[in-house]
Amino acid sequence: MDLDLKGKSIIVTGGGSNIGRGIVLAFAAEGANITIGDIDTEQAQKTADFAMQMGAASTQVVKTDVTQLDQVQAMFKTAVDKFGGVDVLVNNVGWDQLMFFTQTTVDFHAEVTH
Ligand SMILES: NC(=O)c1ccc[n+]([C@@H]2O[C@H](COP(=O)([O-])OP(=O)(O)OC[C@H]3O[C@@H](n4cnc5c(N)ncnc54)[C@H](O)[C@@H]3O)[C@@H](O)[C@H]2O)c1
Repeated sequence: MDLDLKGKSIIVTGGGSNIGRGIVLAFAAEGANITIGDIDTEQAQKTADFAMQMGAASTQVVKTDVTQLDQVQAMFKTAVDKFGGVDVLVNNVGWDQLMFFTQTTVDFHAEVTH
């Protein structure tokens, strides 16, 4: 499939494993330049290497804890410096607490969505 993403600059947070890894590999198959921001750089590098085999134009791994603003800003700058900008940002990493929706509060909803 050609989604016109060849050579585009993509950031995927938590791109090292599971859902994020699948997202990275889908962009790789389109020939994109991919920045993986992940706290687990060892796993992220494995995904980055496989992404190159899948057809990515280029990859880089940036150690990033998305709960730390300075690290997120540094990740963004690293992507801009290497690829000239950011065309797509995939905010894959999030958090939740397993409970019935009816047990959630307005405050809890605000905390996980901001
Ligand atoms: N898997 C599910 O069923 C499901 C359901 C609902 C929502 N989600 C959300 O989707 C996201 C992806 O799900 P998953 O199962 O692939 O997650 P996961 O727990 O397997 O983590 C995926 C990647 O995120 C990285 N990561 C974890 N915390 C991070 C942080 N603070 N900063 C940067 N990277 C971090 C991990 O190192 C890992 O490589 C999760 O953040 C989760 O909140 C998942």
